[in-house]
Amino acid sequence: MRSPRDFMKPQAVGAPAPVAEIPVRPSRMIHFFDPSNEKMAAKLPEIAKKTDILLGNLEDAVPADRKEAAREGLCRIGKTTDFGDTALWTRINSLDSPWVLDDLLRLVAEIGDRLDVVMVPKVEGAWDIHYMDRLLAQLEAKHGVRRPILIHAILETAQGVANVEEIAQASPRMQGMSFGPADLAASRRMKTTRVGGGHPGYQVVADPDPNDANAPRVRAQQDLWHYSIARMVDACTANGLLPFYGPFGDISDAVGCEAQFRGAFLMGCVGAWSLHPSQIEIAKRVFSPDPAEVAFAKRVLEAMPDGRGVLMLDGKMQDDATWKQCKVMVSLAELLAKKDPELRAAYGL
Ligand code: GLV
Ligand code: MG
Repeated sequence: MRSPRDFMKPQAVGAPAPVAEIPVRPSRMIHFFDPSNEKMAAKLPEIAKKTDILLGNLEDAVPADRKEAAREGLCRIGKTTDFGDTALWTRINSLDSPWVLDDLLRLVAEIGDRLDVVMVPKVEGAWDIHYMDRLLAQLEAKHGVRRPILIHAILETAQGVANVEEIAQASPRMQGMSFGPADLAASRRMKTTRVGGGHPGYQVVADPDPNDANAPRVRAQQDLWHYSIARMVDACTANGLLPFYGPFGDISDAVGCEAQFRGAFLMGCVGAWSLHPSQIEIAKRVFSPDPAEVAFAKRVLEAMPDGRGVLMLDGKMQDDATWKQCKVMVSLAELLAKKDPELRAAYGL
C-alpha cells in the first residue's frame, strides 16, 4: 500500500502534480463521436455548443480496421477544433487490447494539453488504475503536459463492480465513473440483448386474487441496474469522484431513455452518455434540476441562513439535513446558470 504522504506526488519526474480536488464543471452529458468519421468531425464545433463534454471514442463500436483512423482523427480534431468551454475526453481501447498502448502514446504526445479526461473501459480493479497512473505520468513528463490528465473508469465487469471502492480510491487522478450496462450484462451472463434500460421479464407481480386465481394481477417492471448504480454512486461520492450513467442503446425510445437517466439523476449521478444528438436534449432536461425544485430549495436556504435548526415550509419539516440537500440543488443550478442563459432565467439567478 502506498504511503498517503506520497499520494499527491507526481508518479514520474517532471510530471505535473496530482490534483487534490476534481474540477466540477457542467457534466450533464458525455456526447460520443467517432473521430474516424469526417462528416461527423465537421459538425463538432456546432455540437460542442450544445453539450457539456465531447468524447472521441476509440473503443467498442469502432471497427478494428478503423482503430488507427479514429486515433489519428482524434489527434487532428483535438489540434484543430475549437470546442469553446466544452471538455474534450476520449475513450481509449481496453487495457488488454492490442491498440491501447498506441492510443496513449499518440494522444498524450499530440493533444496531451487538450485532453481533460481519459475514459478507461472494463476496469477490473485498482491495478488497472495504477498502470494508467504511472504510464500517464511518464508520458506527461516526456511531452511537457502542464496539468494531469484525469482518469474515468467504466464500471462494466462483474469484477469491477466487486472492486468498485478500491477503484475509486486508486489514484488522485480518478475523476469519476460511468456505468456500462451492455458489457456488464455480458460479463455477468445476464440473459439480455440490450444496452441499458429495463426488461419486460424483470418484474414484480401482485399476489393472486384469493377468489379468482385466474384474475389479472398488477405487474410492474423493475430496475435491473439499481444495485450496481447505487454502489457506484456511493463509491464515487465517498471519494470525491463524479458518477455518471452510461449508454442507453434504443435511440428510438426517448421515454425509456429519459426514465433511465432520471433514475440515475435522482440517485446522485451528474450526467449520462449521449449516443445520438436527440439524447443530448434528454440529458439536458433530466440533469438540469427542475426550476420548481430549485425555487423551493432557495426558499429553504433563505429561511435557514446558517443551515441550522428546524422549521416548517409548506407543511414540510426542514432541518440541517434538508438544508444540505437544498444546497446541493442550488449549487448545481448556479453552476449550470453560468453556462446557460435560459436556465439562469428559469432559476431566477
Ligand atoms: C458501455 O461501454 C457499456 O458496455 O454499456
Ligand atoms: Mg462497454
